[in-house]
Amino acid sequence: MPRMTVNDRPLEFDMDPQTPLLWALRDAANLTGTKYGCGNGDCGACMVIVDGAALRSCLITIAEAEGRFITTIEGLSRDRSHPVQQAMVAEQAIQCGYCTPGIVMAAAALIERSPNPSEDEIKEAVPNLCRCGVYPRLVRAIQRAGRVARRQERINAAPPPGISAADAAREVPALRPVDRGSEPKGGT
Ligand code: FES
Ligand code: FES
Repeated sequence: MPRMTVNDRPLEFDMDPQTPLLWALRDAANLTGTKYGCGNGDCGACMVIVDGAALRSCLITIAEAEGRFITTIEGLSRDRSHPVQQAMVAEQAIQCGYCTPGIVMAAAALIERSPNPSEDEIKEAVPNLCRCGVYPRLVRAIQRAGRVARRQERINAAPPPGISAADAAREVPALRPVDRGSEPKGGT
Protein backbone atom coordinates (compact mmCIF):
# COMPACT_ATOMS: atom_id res chain seq x y z
CA MET A 1 0.00 0.00 0.00
CA PRO A 2 1.68 3.24 -1.15
CA ARG A 3 2.79 5.60 1.59
CA MET A 4 3.62 9.25 1.19
CA THR A 5 3.54 12.52 3.09
CA VAL A 6 0.64 14.80 2.20
CA ASN A 7 0.54 18.30 3.65
CA ASP A 8 3.04 17.21 6.33
CA ARG A 9 0.96 14.17 7.34
CA PRO A 10 2.09 10.61 6.64
CA LEU A 11 -0.63 8.78 4.68
CA GLU A 12 -0.98 5.23 3.48
CA PHE A 13 -3.51 4.58 0.74
CA ASP A 14 -5.33 1.25 0.83
CA MET A 15 -6.05 1.46 -2.89
CA ASP A 16 -4.90 -0.05 -6.18
CA PRO A 17 -1.32 1.23 -6.60
CA GLN A 18 -2.20 2.27 -10.17
CA THR A 19 -4.83 4.75 -8.89
CA PRO A 20 -4.04 8.27 -10.07
CA LEU A 21 -2.81 10.45 -7.21
CA LEU A 22 -5.63 12.89 -8.05
CA TRP A 23 -8.29 10.38 -7.06
CA ALA A 24 -6.46 9.24 -3.94
CA LEU A 25 -6.25 12.85 -2.79
CA ARG A 26 -9.84 13.70 -3.63
CA ASP A 27 -11.69 10.49 -2.81
CA ALA A 28 -9.63 8.94 -0.03
CA ALA A 29 -7.95 11.93 1.64
CA ASN A 30 -10.92 14.28 1.07
CA LEU A 31 -8.59 16.96 -0.29
CA THR A 32 -11.06 18.21 -2.87
CA GLY A 33 -9.27 21.48 -3.56
CA THR A 34 -7.33 19.61 -6.24
CA LYS A 35 -9.63 19.52 -9.25
CA TYR A 36 -10.34 17.07 -12.06
CA GLY A 37 -10.52 18.87 -15.38
CA CYS A 38 -9.45 16.74 -18.33
CA GLY A 39 -7.73 13.72 -16.81
CA ASN A 40 -5.26 13.84 -19.70
CA GLY A 41 -2.55 16.20 -18.52
CA ASP A 42 -3.86 19.11 -20.59
CA CYS A 43 -5.61 21.55 -18.25
CA GLY A 44 -3.48 21.72 -15.09
CA ALA A 45 -6.49 21.88 -12.74
CA CYS A 46 -5.07 18.90 -10.83
CA MET A 47 -1.59 20.34 -10.15
CA VAL A 48 0.01 19.61 -6.81
CA ILE A 49 3.57 20.09 -5.61
CA VAL A 50 5.58 16.85 -5.45
CA ASP A 51 9.03 17.16 -3.90
CA GLY A 52 9.09 20.84 -4.86
CA ALA A 53 7.88 20.48 -8.45
CA ALA A 54 4.37 21.23 -9.73
CA LEU A 55 3.03 18.04 -11.32
CA ARG A 56 -0.32 17.02 -12.76
CA SER A 57 -1.76 14.58 -10.23
CA CYS A 58 -3.98 12.94 -12.88
CA LEU A 59 -0.84 11.61 -14.56
CA ILE A 60 0.92 10.15 -11.49
CA THR A 61 -0.08 6.89 -9.86
CA ILE A 62 0.09 6.52 -6.12
CA ALA A 63 2.75 3.86 -6.70
CA GLU A 64 4.87 6.53 -8.39
CA ALA A 65 4.17 8.95 -5.52
CA GLU A 66 5.40 6.43 -2.94
CA GLY A 67 7.72 8.06 -0.41
CA ARG A 68 7.34 11.55 -1.84
CA PHE A 69 6.28 14.81 -0.21
CA ILE A 70 3.03 16.16 -1.64
CA THR A 71 1.54 19.58 -1.04
CA THR A 72 -2.01 20.37 -2.12
CA ILE A 73 -3.77 23.72 -2.12
CA GLU A 74 -5.10 22.94 1.37
CA GLY A 75 -1.53 22.66 2.67
CA LEU A 76 -0.04 25.72 1.00
CA SER A 77 -0.90 27.91 3.97
CA ARG A 78 -3.46 27.64 6.73
CA ASP A 79 -4.42 31.31 6.61
CA ARG A 80 -4.10 32.20 2.91
CA SER A 81 -0.91 34.06 3.72
CA HIS A 82 1.18 32.48 0.94
CA PRO A 83 2.51 35.24 -1.36
CA VAL A 84 0.80 33.70 -4.40
CA GLN A 85 -2.55 33.57 -2.63
CA GLN A 86 -2.24 37.16 -1.47
CA ALA A 87 -1.09 38.45 -4.86
CA MET A 88 -3.80 36.56 -6.76
CA VAL A 89 -6.42 38.32 -4.67
CA ALA A 90 -4.69 41.70 -4.82
CA GLU A 91 -4.45 41.57 -8.64
CA GLN A 92 -7.97 40.13 -9.00
CA ALA A 93 -6.47 37.22 -10.89
CA ILE A 94 -8.97 34.70 -9.56
CA GLN A 95 -11.89 33.87 -11.79
CA CYS A 96 -13.35 30.40 -11.30
CA GLY A 97 -12.53 28.12 -8.40
CA TYR A 98 -11.93 25.24 -10.71
CA CYS A 99 -8.69 26.30 -12.36
CA THR A 100 -7.37 28.51 -9.58
CA PRO A 101 -6.00 25.84 -7.19
CA GLY A 102 -3.88 24.28 -9.94
CA ILE A 103 -2.70 27.70 -11.09
CA VAL A 104 -1.73 28.67 -7.53
CA MET A 105 0.24 25.46 -7.02
CA ALA A 106 2.14 25.87 -10.29
CA ALA A 107 2.89 29.51 -9.40
CA ALA A 108 3.97 28.63 -5.86
CA ALA A 109 6.46 26.06 -7.14
CA LEU A 110 7.82 28.61 -9.63
CA ILE A 111 8.24 31.36 -7.02
CA GLU A 112 10.02 28.93 -4.72
CA ARG A 113 12.72 28.16 -7.28
CA SER A 114 12.70 31.49 -9.15
CA PRO A 115 11.37 34.38 -7.04
CA ASN A 116 11.84 36.96 -9.83
CA PRO A 117 10.34 35.21 -12.87
CA SER A 118 10.13 36.76 -16.32
CA GLU A 119 6.88 36.66 -18.28
CA ASP A 120 8.29 33.87 -20.45
CA GLU A 121 9.26 31.85 -17.38
CA ILE A 122 5.74 32.25 -16.03
CA LYS A 123 4.17 31.13 -19.30
CA GLU A 124 6.35 28.05 -19.33
CA ALA A 125 5.94 27.15 -15.67
CA VAL A 126 2.22 27.91 -15.43
CA PRO A 127 0.72 26.37 -18.57
CA ASN A 128 -2.70 25.91 -16.97
CA LEU A 129 -5.73 26.40 -19.17
CA CYS A 130 -8.21 29.14 -18.30
CA ARG A 131 -11.17 29.78 -20.56
CA CYS A 132 -11.85 33.19 -19.08
CA GLY A 133 -8.46 34.53 -20.18
CA VAL A 134 -7.03 35.61 -16.85
CA TYR A 135 -3.45 35.39 -18.18
CA PRO A 136 -2.37 39.07 -18.13
CA ARG A 137 -3.52 39.43 -14.51
CA LEU A 138 -1.90 36.14 -13.70
CA VAL A 139 1.49 37.34 -14.91
CA ARG A 140 1.13 40.50 -12.81
CA ALA A 141 0.05 38.49 -9.77
CA ILE A 142 2.89 35.99 -10.01
CA GLN A 143 5.51 38.71 -10.44
CA ARG A 144 3.99 40.54 -7.49
CA ALA A 145 4.05 37.33 -5.45
CA GLY A 146 7.74 37.16 -6.23
CA ARG A 147 8.24 40.66 -4.80
CA VAL A 148 6.42 39.57 -1.65
CA ALA A 149 8.55 36.43 -1.42
CA ARG A 150 11.68 38.60 -1.79
CA ARG A 151 10.32 40.84 1.00
CA GLN A 152 10.19 43.90 -1.26
CA GLU A 153 6.47 44.28 -0.71
CA ARG A 154 3.81 43.20 1.75
CA ILE A 155 0.22 42.42 0.82
CA ASN A 156 -2.71 41.80 3.10
CA ALA A 157 -5.44 41.26 0.53
CA ALA A 158 -6.87 37.79 1.17
CA PRO A 159 -9.14 37.41 4.20
CA PRO A 160 -8.32 34.45 6.44
CA PRO A 161 -10.64 31.45 6.10
CA GLY A 162 -13.50 30.80 8.47
CA ILE A 163 -14.89 34.30 8.63
CA SER A 164 -18.40 35.30 7.65
CA ALA A 165 -19.15 36.57 4.17
CA ALA A 166 -20.02 39.97 5.62
CA ASP A 167 -16.68 40.18 7.43
CA ALA A 168 -14.91 39.01 4.29
CA ALA A 169 -16.65 41.75 2.32
CA ARG A 170 -15.43 44.32 4.82
CA GLU A 171 -11.87 43.02 4.41
CA VAL A 172 -11.89 42.97 0.59
CA PRO A 173 -12.87 46.25 -1.06
CA ALA A 174 -13.92 44.51 -4.29
CA LEU A 175 -16.57 42.58 -2.35
CA ARG A 176 -18.12 45.56 -0.62
CA PRO A 177 -21.86 45.68 -1.21
CA VAL A 178 -22.95 48.37 -3.62
CA ASP A 179 -24.87 51.24 -2.04
CA ARG A 180 -28.03 50.97 -4.17
CA GLY A 181 -29.27 54.31 -2.92
CA SER A 182 -26.49 56.08 -4.80
CA GLU A 183 -27.23 54.35 -8.11
CA PRO A 184 -29.31 56.08 -10.81
CA LYS A 185 -32.78 54.57 -11.09
CA GLY A 186 -33.32 52.55 -14.30
CA GLY A 187 -36.28 53.05 -16.70
CA THR A 188 -38.56 56.02 -17.25
S1 FES B 1 -7.07 16.98 -14.79
FE1 FES B 1 -4.93 16.72 -14.77
S2 FES B 1 -4.22 18.03 -16.33
FE2 FES B 1 -6.39 18.18 -16.49
S1 FES C 1 -9.98 30.62 -13.88
FE1 FES C 1 -11.26 28.96 -14.48
S2 FES C 1 -11.73 29.34 -16.56
FE2 FES C 1 -10.44 30.96 -15.98
